[in-house]
Amino acid sequence: MHLNREEEKILNGEMGEAKRKAMEIIVKLGDFFGAERTIEIDNAHISGISYKNIGDPGIDFLKKFSEERVMVKTTINPIGFDLDFPEFFSTDNSFISKQMEIVNIFKKMGVSPSLTCTPYYIDEIRGKQHIAWAESSAIVYANSIIGAMTNRESGISALASAITGKSAYYGLHLKEGRMATHRVILDFKPSHFEHSVIGLYIGLNIKNGIPYIKGVSGNLDALKSLGASMNSTGSIPMFHAEGITPEWREAGEGGEIIHIGREDIHALRESYSIDTDPDAVMIGCPHLSVDELLAIAEYLKNRRVKDKKRLLLFTSRHIRNKIPSVISEIEKRGAKVFSDTCMVVSPLSSDYVSVGLSSGKATFYLGREKIKVVFADMETLMGMVTYED
Ligand code: F3S
Repeated sequence: MHLNREEEKILNGEMGEAKRKAMEIIVKLGDFFGAERTIEIDNAHISGISYKNIGDPGIDFLKKFSEERVMVKTTINPIGFDLDFPEFFSTDNSFISKQMEIVNIFKKMGVSPSLTCTPYYIDEIRGKQHIAWAESSAIVYANSIIGAMTNRESGISALASAITGKSAYYGLHLKEGRMATHRVILDFKPSHFEHSVIGLYIGLNIKNGIPYIKGVSGNLDALKSLGASMNSTGSIPMFHAEGITPEWREAGEGGEIIHIGREDIHALRESYSIDTDPDAVMIGCPHLSVDELLAIAEYLKNRRVKDKKRLLLFTSRHIRNKIPSVISEIEKRGAKVFSDTCMVVSPLSSDYVSVGLSSGKATFYLGREKIKVVFADMETLMGMVTYED
């Protein structure tokens, strides 16, 4: 990969060891993927910052960069608990202090402590902007809905880009890296929830690639769930939703054609769900938007959470602070709204034998942890743990 003089200086260690390491990561990636040069990025988002996921080796790795400042606006993913209610998630003081150590390293580096997987609700990211995002659900949203350009970065490569302000120029940063590889045709009009199951189906059947999808809804929250799901069963950095993705007309024909019928989606949902009465319903993977919280508040207007049941909702602090009266209406009905964390990256779910989930992504990951999952739409799930007032 060609480097300019400044980049060479960084790689030679003339700007410090942390920057050298960061540039080395970018060069290695660029060489591996055949990039000719680097590209300046405007924004970075780092995932994999929950102590539950990265443990002590992750802290040791981050410490190597702690003296450096990030060069671009950088946000970070959720952590293992809500900063206001750590004890609700863990009574282990060491878990809490190690998690805070991670957050403080990032703060020292000038990273915004956003603690959300929906950074696109915080910073305005525009179409054609080059960014370096980790967190698969956010990557697919940025590429497919906003039309920004990011590869499927890991937490480590996104950190390297944040520190250098650069990414290797390959893959999704190039027009030819964004062409459709498959054509997916929905033979039915899917509900909001069914998008989540369709995402799982596409991920299972395509694995790696970029689908052009005909027949999805224009609802951004449904598309958010679709993208998150397809990145749990597969590794899909973007999709072209016909009529929605800014560049859908330029996506090409795609290769293999895949038809999906409602019966495929029903069968797949059933394969992930068990028939039981869940102890807790958890909604907000990815983190809930304003519209989703408004819909939940509306549903709960004349309902209350049953004794011995839990309705736990997850959103970003940014969204929570935008609509305090809606949050308080929801909590008056007995539900709890949490920020900074989620049901997957916190240890919370292991407190329950069975949970109700409407997210394909959360269902996929918690199912692997051997938690019994009822996988259904939000209203069905909320109906299971609430009663009419
Ligand atoms: Fe976000 Fe947690 Fe789901 S980080 S995408 S809510 S697994």
